[in-house]
Amino acid sequence: MDRMIIHGGAPLCGTVDLSGSKNAALPIMMAAVLTDEPLIIRNVPRLRDVSTAMELLAGLGVATRWTGDHDVELHARVLTSHEAPYELVKTMRASFVALGPLLARSGRARVSTPGGCAIGARPVNLHIAGIRALGARIQMRNGYVEAHAGALSGARIWLDNPSVGATENILMAAVRARGRSVIENAAREPEVQNLAGLLNAMGAKIEGAGTHVIEIEGVDRLHGADYRVIPDRIEAGSLMVAAAITGGDLTIGGAPVAELAAVIIKLREAGAEITPLEGGLRITRSGPLRPVELRTLPHPGFPTDLQAQMMALLTQAAGTSVITETIFENRFMHAQELMRMGADIVMKGSTAVVRGPTRLSGAPVMATDLRASMSLILAGLVADNTTEVSRVYHLDRGYEALDRKLSSVGARIERVAD
Ligand code: EPZ
Repeated sequence: MDRMIIHGGAPLCGTVDLSGSKNAALPIMMAAVLTDEPLIIRNVPRLRDVSTAMELLAGLGVATRWTGDHDVELHARVLTSHEAPYELVKTMRASFVALGPLLARSGRARVSTPGGCAIGARPVNLHIAGIRALGARIQMRNGYVEAHAGALSGARIWLDNPSVGATENILMAAVRARGRSVIENAAREPEVQNLAGLLNAMGAKIEGAGTHVIEIEGVDRLHGADYRVIPDRIEAGSLMVAAAITGGDLTIGGAPVAELAAVIIKLREAGAEITPLEGGLRITRSGPLRPVELRTLPHPGFPTDLQAQMMALLTQAAGTSVITETIFENRFMHAQELMRMGADIVMKGSTAVVRGPTRLSGAPVMATDLRASMSLILAGLVADNTTEVSRVYHLDRGYEALDRKLSSVGARIERVAD
């Protein structure tokens, strides 16, 4: 397993370009199952999770190939399987959104339940309730969801909480259901909007994506498309924190300013200067970092996927910050590792109190999940001497060539193969 070695103290300065969004690319790739025509997807990031999605699609009989550095062609001419196996789903829970498109395309699916992960139990009850409402017969057997549907029928579906994955799964089933469907309390994330845009480009009739009410008029068939994945707003936020924590001056090409409003507000509160640019933004931090109160919320609130990164930053703020994680029940594991580096963090339930500034000292630390690994890298960028982050395969799931990107703007970071 590879490690990242970081020598702290260098402010990050320069320009870095974003990759395509992992969390948009994954459901968009699953949408290839909905048509027997080729789907061209552009700006796909080179990530472990994308490779897993390609493997899952190939297992279903989809012809998959990279047609460029970041372009893929997916062609589900004929499906030869309807099963998303446990081995793949357990490594990438986003595979579970294969359920909706498989059902819509051929009326049956056998998808492993993803099970929990480091950050929480990650249930799929909302996915299942929504797909059942569209007329599918679903049973749970041997850890798999087995679903059948002669023809799906439009329905009005209420989500108890605005689940991103459930919204995406239901959306990809409803586009081929007979009649009209409405998803209420839908997730508003930009990645859901990107998926809906693709589906409409394929001939679907979806309105309201990006709001809490999405309306879908079912259609008889969907055709191929040539479509682009949006930039990764979580990578953007992670790089913004890197500039703020090191007192640097970064221009981030492709940063989706409109989708980063909550992040920009909080980083400005913490003392960063942020200037929107044509096609991106510039972030600098020269004065002292200030404490903030942070509460993760569904979009457009502050994203849970940037909570760990902000915790690293706030260890350097002069005062007491309070972070409340409202989305996942176990998303503070990075805190233990940050404390090993000298951070002063007290956790109680879903709240973490961070006192600073504390001098962080480099240490061997272990990544536990994707965003926690980024938090440890950020701490290493500002820690005295050397930090060694192990299990960086977590990082490879969601950040493309991160060490190269950080090195290009002055970070002293190297990847070491074990
Ligand atoms: C997506 O996960 C993202 N992953 C996550 O990013 C992100 O943290 C999350 O949305 C929230 O924004 C992808 O898009 C691939 P949810 P998802 O369903 O869809 C509960 C990253 O680091 N829930 O919106 O799985 C659930 O337990 C990853 O890139 C149910 O109760 O998240 C959680 O508490 C991590 N029942 C809350 O909803 C369900 O059926 C939000 O989960 C589904 C979810």
